[in-house]
Amino acid sequence: MHVLITGGAGFIGSHLVDLHLAKGDQVHVVDDLSTGVFANVEPHRDNPLFRFDHADVLTWDRLDHAVGWADRIYHMAAVVGVYRVIAEPTKVLATNIAGCERLLRAARDGGWKPQVVLASSSEVYGHNDEQILREDQDLTVSSRAGTRWGYSVSKIADEALGMSYAQRFGIPAVIARFFNTVGPRQVGRYGMVVPRFVQQAVSGEPITVFGGGDQTRSFCDVRDTVVALESLATRAGRDTVVANVGNDREISIRDLAELVIQRSGSRSSIKDVPLREAYGEDFEDIRRRRPDLSRLRALTGFKHRYTLEDTIDHLVALARQEAHSHHAEQRGHDGDRTVVRNQPEYAA
Ligand SMILES: NC(=O)c1ccc[n+]([C@@H]2O[C@H](COP(=O)([O-])OP(=O)(O)OC[C@H]3O[C@@H](n4cnc5c(N)ncnc54)[C@H](O)[C@@H]3O)[C@@H](O)[C@H]2O)c1
Repeated sequence: MHVLITGGAGFIGSHLVDLHLAKGDQVHVVDDLSTGVFANVEPHRDNPLFRFDHADVLTWDRLDHAVGWADRIYHMAAVVGVYRVIAEPTKVLATNIAGCERLLRAARDGGWKPQVVLASSSEVYGHNDEQILREDQDLTVSSRAGTRWGYSVSKIADEALGMSYAQRFGIPAVIARFFNTVGPRQVGRYGMVVPRFVQQAVSGEPITVFGGGDQTRSFCDVRDTVVALESLATRAGRDTVVANVGNDREISIRDLAELVIQRSGSRSSIKDVPLREAYGEDFEDIRRRRPDLSRLRALTGFKHRYTLEDTIDHLVALARQEAHSHHAEQRGHDGDRTVVRNQPEYAA
């Protein structure tokens, strides 16, 4: 199969690259490296099945060609992360909506209609505080809090674009509503909570809990996310599907901080930081986020392989290894002998 992955040097995208190359597929990545890094796909550099283009999906002049080549397209490229969403509200809308539309137009204009897998988000459920979020619930975006909801609006627009191109032009669309995804290669600097907590725990700094800590999230290991996503796309075939993709174990952010401290054996304390201080005045947080996974399970029979404890243990080991090699480099000798793999293996 020919697989095009926009944003394939990013966190989720690079795990899709690993998965499809392990299956023997040909993989073409386009990424502008705005938040992704080439190091995430570097191990495949010399693989003849792999191709990389450093380009912006909004302006790349080879997009039509790449779309025409593909059997399946994963559209992961987007402006993501709470900090960037707050700092660059116009870029969020432009990149996330116009990028998706340009891709779908290219798919419409080609001779062959590839399957398009769109990365949506649990953020489309807005400030819905339901105990569990189902795909057929209304999507509600708050009218308060200025530009806070721009990311949600962009993902709702992407979903509407995907559904419209599917209905009008027969382009099969799989709309995956990702809930919080965590694991190797995720970076904390754009506001992602798990890598930030792990980094703080490993370096012995206070773990900063924003907004009280009783808000809940449901975290899915990226290695499960990509297997579920691939399976969903394969099962969907030429049908159009909207599905939650994540893990339905719910945990409060304070319990998460305590779990990270416990798993890492860190002496870090927990420090409360008001939302206003963390994000600025017009930020509105979401209280609960737990996916109903019945649709995903009914379609794919998917079962998770990684618990949150597994993910945290792995991330703590990676962070310690990184800190160790950094210190060793400064002292001028080789790092640790036991290497924790940042390259997970996927079954062929
Ligand atoms: N990680 C999560 O928990 C999560 C949750 C919900 C939805 N999502 C969605 O999943 C997708 C992947 O997210 P991620 O967590 O891997 O983030 P990421 O930032 O690691 O990946 C996004 C990638 O897209 C690239 N990119 C951004 N703008 C681009 C452009 N104009 N042209 C080409 N490449 C561009 C970035 O360099 C990056 O490699 C995004 O669409 C995101 O909105 C992620």
